[in-house]
Amino acid sequence: GITRHFDFNITYHNETRLCHMKKIVSVNGMFPGPTIHVNEGDRVVVKVTNFVLYNMSIHWHGIRQLRSAWADGPAYVTQCPIQTGQSYTYNFTVLSQSGTLWWHAHILWMRATVYGAFIIHPKRGVPYPFIQPDEEVPIIIGEWWKSNVEHVLLEYISSGGSPNVSDAYTINGQPGTLYNCSASDAFVANAFPGKTYLLRIINAGLNTEMFFALANHTLTVVEIDASYTKPLAASAILISPGQTTNVLVTANQPVGQYYMAAGPYVSGQGVPFDQSITTAIFSYTGSSNSSSPTVPTLPKFNDTKFATNFSQNLRSLSTAQNPVNVPSQIDHQLFFTVGLSIKSCHHNKTCKGPNGGRRSASVNNVSFVLPKTALLQAHFFNLSGIYTADFPSNPPIKFNYTGKAPKNLQPSVGTRLKSIPFGSNVQLILQDTNLVGAESHPIHLHGFNLYWVGQGLGNYHPANSSTFNLVDPPIRNTVIVPPGGWAATRFTADNPGVWFLHCHLEVHNTWGLEMAFIVENGKGPLQTLPPPPADLPKC
Ligand code: C2O
Repeated sequence: GITRHFDFNITYHNETRLCHMKKIVSVNGMFPGPTIHVNEGDRVVVKVTNFVLYNMSIHWHGIRQLRSAWADGPAYVTQCPIQTGQSYTYNFTVLSQSGTLWWHAHILWMRATVYGAFIIHPKRGVPYPFIQPDEEVPIIIGEWWKSNVEHVLLEYISSGGSPNVSDAYTINGQPGTLYNCSASDAFVANAFPGKTYLLRIINAGLNTEMFFALANHTLTVVEIDASYTKPLAASAILISPGQTTNVLVTANQPVGQYYMAAGPYVSGQGVPFDQSITTAIFSYTGSSNSSSPTVPTLPKFNDTKFATNFSQNLRSLSTAQNPVNVPSQIDHQLFFTVGLSIKSCHHNKTCKGPNGGRRSASVNNVSFVLPKTALLQAHFFNLSGIYTADFPSNPPIKFNYTGKAPKNLQPSVGTRLKSIPFGSNVQLILQDTNLVGAESHPIHLHGFNLYWVGQGLGNYHPANSSTFNLVDPPIRNTVIVPPGGWAATRFTADNPGVWFLHCHLEVHNTWGLEMAFIVENGKGPLQTLPPPPADLPKC
């Protein structure tokens, strides 16, 4: 591979959406931010300089960061934030993965406007394991608020969660044709009759799982989270925050204009959400733009059946060139309950909210608190008093949900980590507790891909393991734990460092639905984490 250099200047920038101009935080004055293109095997060097009054940190979502944990990016996990006037150079090699990933700010809710695509092309000379597309088009779904993002976050924390409703969804930064003052700026993809396009779809939204469809055209999924899949033809796809999905689409319909559209999937009852739909235009050469485009039929916002089927039909490609090595011998069995808690105060200030207490969220009843120093530094330099390595492998009381919320699941707050030896094979069962509002949790693990070997509704039972797919399970960095259900995953702990695991819905993340693994150094020379770069930010 070669080395590719990028400069990311964090600057203020004005954008007008929904008839209002707003000052946003951006990278290089672009929104969405710049697309990074690399080939598998390349080294990537990004100098990030912070010219705004907020702290900043950039995460390369889904990049494995093999022995480069210092470049992963989550604030207070692998690094202290980049302060105003400071810079930090992220330096890492993209190994053994290709496809669509993305990058985003990883501090508070700054990722609302600080995000972009990270596209890894195959090694030079290596073709895709599917028909070569004539063109490739990034499609980044986002959420837009009229207020400043930090105000949205503060309001959210102080109210216990109610203003968690964006003012628009966006495709490539644009709300599209169905919103006020937005139609003429809608994103347009030009389609030439007969040609095949690779849509690289990213859900960069903060809080909403989305359905995406293109009117009258079949989408063929060929890759998810930078891992190839068996081709899956679909009328619409489901994509959760954090996830990426590549689809092929052939311009095989009568010359005309067709909408791409994305709208919310909200499985929980009583969860307030933005009910609008964002559109972009798939415009055939030779069509007139006075014709009104055909609108696709998206699944209904609560179509759990569609969502479940779609997830369950995904399979990794699993060929000789793209082998799947699901660990079969398990060294560490972990069972994590994930979900919102009945009542508690994560942001423990005055503790009054709509239900007499602010909500919190937790993993195994631990509601995670970020420290004031980065965990990876604390681990590497053996600093005491920053965290404890006693994160429980199982919930404190065996979880059994029978329909009535158990009384004994009050979370405690803490910065507790789970330490695992280098090279161990881990089975991680994620069980949604369904105590407060049944909502999916897109659970993202930094530093690894997860083999998503099983999923189901209700309580997980060890007997469910006989149904696990150990042959061609989907391989993802972000897996969906269905509401009131479970997801079973496996991974090999072959990457030393401190690795964040969290819900990619910022509303749940903010409430504490997070934890972190320490993967210890191994004995071999390629099994240890090198020391940090000299410019690593200090807290
Ligand atoms: Cu895409 Cu920890 O995040």
